[in-house]
Amino acid sequence: MNLKQIKWELFESQVSLDNAAAERVSVMAEASIKARGQFHLVLAGGSTPKNVYTLLKDISSDWHKWQIYFGDERCLDQNHQDRNSTMAFEVWLNHVDIPVQNIHVIPAELGPVEGAILYNKTLSQLGDFDLVLLGLGEDAHTASLFPGHSWNNNLDALAVFDAPKPPSLRISMSPKRLSRAKSVLFLVSGKEKQAAINQWKAGEPIPASTVTCENGVDVFCFDVT
Ligand code: 6PG
Repeated sequence: MNLKQIKWELFESQVSLDNAAAERVSVMAEASIKARGQFHLVLAGGSTPKNVYTLLKDISSDWHKWQIYFGDERCLDQNHQDRNSTMAFEVWLNHVDIPVQNIHVIPAELGPVEGAILYNKTLSQLGDFDLVLLGLGEDAHTASLFPGHSWNNNLDALAVFDAPKPPSLRISMSPKRLSRAKSVLFLVSGKEKQAAINQWKAGEPIPASTVTCENGVDVFCFDVT
């Protein structure tokens, strides 16, 4: 994907980034529901999206038409405080009427191999996502795709055994599956991400740059340039 297809948007504050991201999700949801009767959304992990998910708790939408997936998950017990899904449930999903069967949590408590096999079964029945949200690590990782690691891009869900960001055992969607989306939005905040952004803008083959989208990739930035 050439760099021209990446749209960088710099925000003056975290609050303005969060509001813009929540607005993007809400607008994409309404358009997808109007056009196709459903909205397939992949959630980012980490801490950056927390305020965005909190804002989504208070929007009005036909929640029964939402289908939620996770770009990656840490292999920890169900409801473990450090799981990506736990944060999303606590600040948002437990407070809206998305049917539980529409929230496709990665069964990461089963471990990388078993969990990835089951999540592949879930994902294999789907078409393209409507919107994929992703974060960016200081080392330019995204989801649980880390620099210097290799992966089978023919799989939708990957078992990860040696993640340098604890915990080492994880499950991640592959770049190819994350790229099967109508829209991809990265949320990047914090000076500690500047080196990763510089690598990305220099065209270096970082994991984040392996996620593409025919409609282009948007990167919402605060406190990085
Ligand atoms: C994870 C995330 C990971 C995260 C980045 C950014 O499981 O850790 O999926 O890819 O999005 O590391 O994390 P922060 O938003 O906390 O900086």
